[in-house]
Amino acid sequence: MLKADWYDAAAGPHRNLADARDKAEHQGKRKMLAHTFAAQTVITFEPLLRENLSTLMGLLDRHEVARTEVNMRRVLNYFLIDLFGQLLYGHKLGCLDRGNDLLDAETKDGRIYRVPFIESLLDVTVINNLLAILSNILPLIRPLAKYHPYKKKGTDWENIVYHNTKKRLANPDPEDDLFQRLLQDSKGQDLNLPFGEIIAECSAMMNAGTETTTAAMTNTIFLLYTHPQVLQKLRAEIDAAVPGNEIPTYEVASNLRYLRACIEESLRIRPASSFGLPRIVPAGGREVAGKFIPEGVIVSVPTYSLLRDETVFKNASQYNPDRWLTKDLEEKKRMMTNHLPFSTGPRACIGRNIAYFEQTVVIATIVKFYDCKVEKGFQLQTQERFNSNPGDLPVEISRRCD
Ligand code: HEM
Repeated sequence: MLKADWYDAAAGPHRNLADARDKAEHQGKRKMLAHTFAAQTVITFEPLLRENLSTLMGLLDRHEVARTEVNMRRVLNYFLIDLFGQLLYGHKLGCLDRGNDLLDAETKDGRIYRVPFIESLLDVTVINNLLAILSNILPLIRPLAKYHPYKKKGTDWENIVYHNTKKRLANPDPEDDLFQRLLQDSKGQDLNLPFGEIIAECSAMMNAGTETTTAAMTNTIFLLYTHPQVLQKLRAEIDAAVPGNEIPTYEVASNLRYLRACIEESLRIRPASSFGLPRIVPAGGREVAGKFIPEGVIVSVPTYSLLRDETVFKNASQYNPDRWLTKDLEEKKRMMTNHLPFSTGPRACIGRNIAYFEQTVVIATIVKFYDCKVEKGFQLQTQERFNSNPGDLPVEISRRCD
């Protein structure tokens, strides 16, 4: 089933991989980017991951020395902006070094100014979601929405992407980064994409590549440090596999079964994308879950409810990573069939290999090296935009080992 007109609200003049609704257009884009997101490509990102992880640890250590609270939600977001910025554009955005998310943005007439990355991205998705819900009258309300302060934040976001895309294009000695995959295919043939389409793809990647994984990691940190028994078991697994003060490698961490179970369980209980993704029933209608649905009707499966289905996940509202280690193969299969935090089918997340890769190394490292004290009774808030974005996560941090 194709994506519904819901996706038109946030789309610009050029479609990107995430908002292209036409089947052929989407397939062409997916083919162009498939290699970039393949598991064997993703593991080549490890040196950059480790470089940014060291910078993140430096920032956490400074907080410990200064005895200042750390907002894990924000520092993880800084980490992902820096990492994904470097992966995409080959240049540093420096959020962790500066301790803020202020980035250069550029207007089409060349004026450069600084804006906060996180707010620019999140605010515009609030208004885009509203427009999406009202997509049947989009031509009427879109002109009005442009006066909304949140929609103006969207211009700042576009200008951040425009500035960095221009900067990357002007680089006479570019890195072999993801951006290169938008210029040439894997055989070195020029793709000759229009500039607007390159911008649209960069915007989708900077958005999807930072926001969802920030949510996933923040949720996991919150859940682990508020479930001491789970944390203890995970630590025992990590400490046994990674002795001394080494940062876990992906090769080692990806074989830690309990770590993977902790990550899966966080994605289940606090999915980064939790609402029903709207799709149109195709010509002739379709039978869905035993009911005939006529063509043209918009259907969706709310991910949050799917992942809390008591008939599949016993005590579904409990954070219980052990459920993923069950020896009952039927039960495991049933859970895996329902566990769709990255969606499913041809429009499933293309970035899931990167998401697992990043989470595996970062969560293992934080758990190994740091204690994070979360205030008793603290509840991590969630704000539903396109994704389910976590609120602030203040913690007191201290080092476990040097
Ligand atoms: C834990 C982290 C992540 C989660 C939970 C997640 C979840 C999802 C979901 C549910 C979709 C389907 C959206 C829809 O149908 O509208 C999606 C699509 C997508 N994701 Fe992710 N994502 C994550 C990380 C990433 C990363 C790191 C990237 C890297 C660029 C990425 C890029 C994309 C793109 C480009 C699409 C559109 C794919 C297409 O339509 O062919 N995601 N993601």
